Amino acid sequence: MSSRYPASWLDELRSRSDIVQIVSGYVALNKKGRKYWGLCPFHGEKTPSFSVDGEHQLYYCFGCKAGGNVFHFYMEMEHCSFSEAVTQLAERAHMALPEMEKDEGYERRRTQRERLLAANREAARFYHETLFTPAGAASLAYLRRRGLNDGVIRKFGLGASPDEWSMLSDRLMEKGFTLDELALAGLTVRKKADNGRDRYYDMFRSRAMFPIIDSYGNVLAFGGRTLEKREPKYLNTADTPVFNKRKGVFAANLLRRQRHLDRVILVEGYMDVVSLTQFGVEGVCATLGTALTAEQARLLKRFAPQVFLGYDGDSAGQHAILRGLEILEQENVPARVLDFPDGLDPDEFIRRDGVEGFRSLPAISPAAYRLRRLKEQFDLSAQDGRLAYARGAAEIVSTADPLERDLLLDRLSLETGFSRETLAEQMKLSVPKPAAASRNPASRIRTARPEASGTTSGGDLKAQELLLCLFASGHIPKDMIEEKDFDDDELKSLYRELAAGASPASLPDLAPDDAARSRYTRLLLTPTAGSTDEMITMANDCLIRIRRTKLERQYEELSQEIASASGEQLDSLLQEAREISDKLKKLK
Ligand code: UTP
Ligand code: MN
Repeated sequence: MSSRYPASWLDELRSRSDIVQIVSGYVALNKKGRKYWGLCPFHGEKTPSFSVDGEHQLYYCFGCKAGGNVFHFYMEMEHCSFSEAVTQLAERAHMALPEMEKDEGYERRRTQRERLLAANREAARFYHETLFTPAGAASLAYLRRRGLNDGVIRKFGLGASPDEWSMLSDRLMEKGFTLDELALAGLTVRKKADNGRDRYYDMFRSRAMFPIIDSYGNVLAFGGRTLEKREPKYLNTADTPVFNKRKGVFAANLLRRQRHLDRVILVEGYMDVVSLTQFGVEGVCATLGTALTAEQARLLKRFAPQVFLGYDGDSAGQHAILRGLEILEQENVPARVLDFPDGLDPDEFIRRDGVEGFRSLPAISPAAYRLRRLKEQFDLSAQDGRLAYARGAAEIVSTADPLERDLLLDRLSLETGFSRETLAEQMKLSVPKPAAASRNPASRIRTARPEASGTTSGGDLKAQELLLCLFASGHIPKDMIEEKDFDDDELKSLYRELAAGASPASLPDLAPDDAARSRYTRLLLTPTAGSTDEMITMANDCLIRIRRTKLERQYEELSQEIASASGEQLDSLLQEAREISDKLKKLK
């Protein structure tokens, strides 16, 4: 990301753009301990969990996990690119822009990306303007028939693609975009004609247009709804150099601007988002015609502390909820389910029952929802049915927290006729069942013992993270730690950079995505431990733990090999085992 600018120049700019000062221009900060605290500008909250670390020049929100250095803060507040943030902060600090290092690959990618985004922006403008001309009349009538008002049409920048073969493509080429670029952006379809000449036509024709805009305001792609009953109902931009449908969500641009969200509502369809928003429901977004992915779950976590799944009430939607819950659990995002009655989708429901109906829909816990689904599979008037249901249900109830478990047990006892005690017994049996674990990866992760995982165990990873954090403070002697003390790739590379003299504030620039940037920042915050001596003692404790775990693991592997070895090989394995055991003794 930063390869355009010399690292030393960026360091200089960062040190002349004090993060406490820059953030104070947007957020009221109070000093408490070693950090400054304020209300997070990126998600809604009433008590401050947004911190600014003046020593390491980083910001980090403990609520929504947004984090980075002064450039990232500026990018997010001003919805601008990295290079725009750098240019504007340089101007503010009265620093001249450096002679650019030539990195042609980077330049080409950057200019291509910027040109495709510019083409998309022009296209969105064209579609939106067309909506209010005769060429867009059919789309406008359609959107109105769907009950949308002009306010919400403008808010989402909805548009119309005209019933013409190449109106958009011709318009954009007049503006200087090439056919190659338009094809890459997914706006234009190119076909070789029989005579060998290139023919082309607009990808979207005669459809109501939904622009897909990211949280920085970039138009990434489009969805176009047919006005008649053509297939597909929604035509979407395929993946392009600027768009990956597995990573984004529809309406991310609005989410970013909605403060104080206590939950995000994830729905299936474009129309559901637009319609709920028109009714005044905040924080609604949709996946882009695919099942929820882990990347999207992590993205949503940044906007609000929990996610409500509001998928369609039909059977496909209900199935997607079960999958979605698993993904959210794997990513540690608290989730609830909005179960729409009568097979309705959110759009149909809110039109039928109004916003009051919507607000009074219960948000069901994952366990309660899974129970409801399970129950439908059995005939509870028969003993066999009750028995099978109780078995499955016990497994689900065991995943709930203690208070909810208590409530669910009561209900289950009523439904099945088994006593609470019997059901509780059954619950104990059902927890580690491998069949259950393979059906539900989340429960497998929760019940797996940390030692069982081949590489880094939970506690060990914590020790490695703490060690890196202490090292980043600059108070730990260099020769105390080695690169091989880390076996997590990200930790290794952060360590390597720090050891080579990089400042903590420079490292978030290297993060490949938002999730990594958040992690880097959290790790690099100034440690809370006080004196240098304290930090060295803590680092030492971490090292002992890390090295011991590693030796123990080696020892265990060796023992297994020894069990099946013989002759010379056995001798050398035994020798190795003795050495490891000596090293272990020394560590203790
Ligand atoms: P639905 O068929 O439930 O559409 O698909 P909807 O949003 O309720 O649409 P209306 O109300 O009939 O206009 C849900 C979502 O799945 C994706 C779209 O994102 C759609 O909003 N989808 C559906 C497609 O991408 N392509 C399709 O052909 C159909
Ligand atoms: Mn619908």
